[in-house]
Amino acid sequence: MQKITTDDVRAKHLRITEPSPWVARFSGLVPAGGRVLDLAAGGGRHARHFLAKGHPAVAVDRDAAALRDLRETPGATVIEADLEDGRDPFGPGGPLAGERFAGVVVVNYLFRPLFDGLIDALEPGGVLIYETFARGNEDFARPRNPDHLLRSGELLDAVAGRLQVVAYEHGRVEAADIPGVKQRLCAVKDLELSVRDDGDPPAHPVRPDD
Ligand SMILES: C[S@@+](CC[C@H](N)C(=O)[O-])C[C@H]1O[C@@H](n2cnc3c(N)ncnc32)[C@H](O)[C@@H]1O
Repeated sequence: MQKITTDDVRAKHLRITEPSPWVARFSGLVPAGGRVLDLAAGGGRHARHFLAKGHPAVAVDRDAAALRDLRETPGATVIEADLEDGRDPFGPGGPLAGERFAGVVVVNYLFRPLFDGLIDALEPGGVLIYETFARGNEDFARPRNPDHLLRSGELLDAVAGRLQVVAYEHGRVEAADIPGVKQRLCAVKDLELSVRDDGDPPAHPVRPDD
């Protein structure tokens, strides 16, 4: 049987140019005109989606070849950087040091040490949209490495006490751009922004573009 390489998988993902339906569904929650980070952007399909909606966008990937055209696009910033080189990309000297975003999007990429940094990088009211493969996916397709598969509830745990979860899913997704077992989260950094007596954060539309 022919061996499938990481480059083959990346090439398959790069052929998809439509935004993930999960990202498209929640992109309307990101404050209008706010800057969006597309982490491990690949071909930048989500950066492009937000640019088309009037958001400045920063696309980061260790291989920026498929982002070349964005370097000339008004409002777009392309950063070629290895997010797993041992330094904190959001920390001093990192490629995203001190940067703040109204939205952070991560799709089909997992490197757990980045969780805290990407939550810190959200402005008050900012929105995290995260979607990637989860345990059980190994029964169907790559990725099969547990380092690249979320465990049940892991994204909920990552944001607990820091972000308000607006939507969460975990399970088999057949009608996805890349079918498999996925975990999906949309959460807002607004736990400190309550104007209610009971301290609960504001409610958001769960289908903001409807
Ligand atoms: C499966 S693709 C997903 C691309 C994009 N998020 C999307 O949904 O279309 C994963 C991306 O993660 C990038 N990536 C993997 N390891 C990385 C690292 N250490 N630093 C930066 N980017 C990395 C790859 O280059 C690839 O473009």
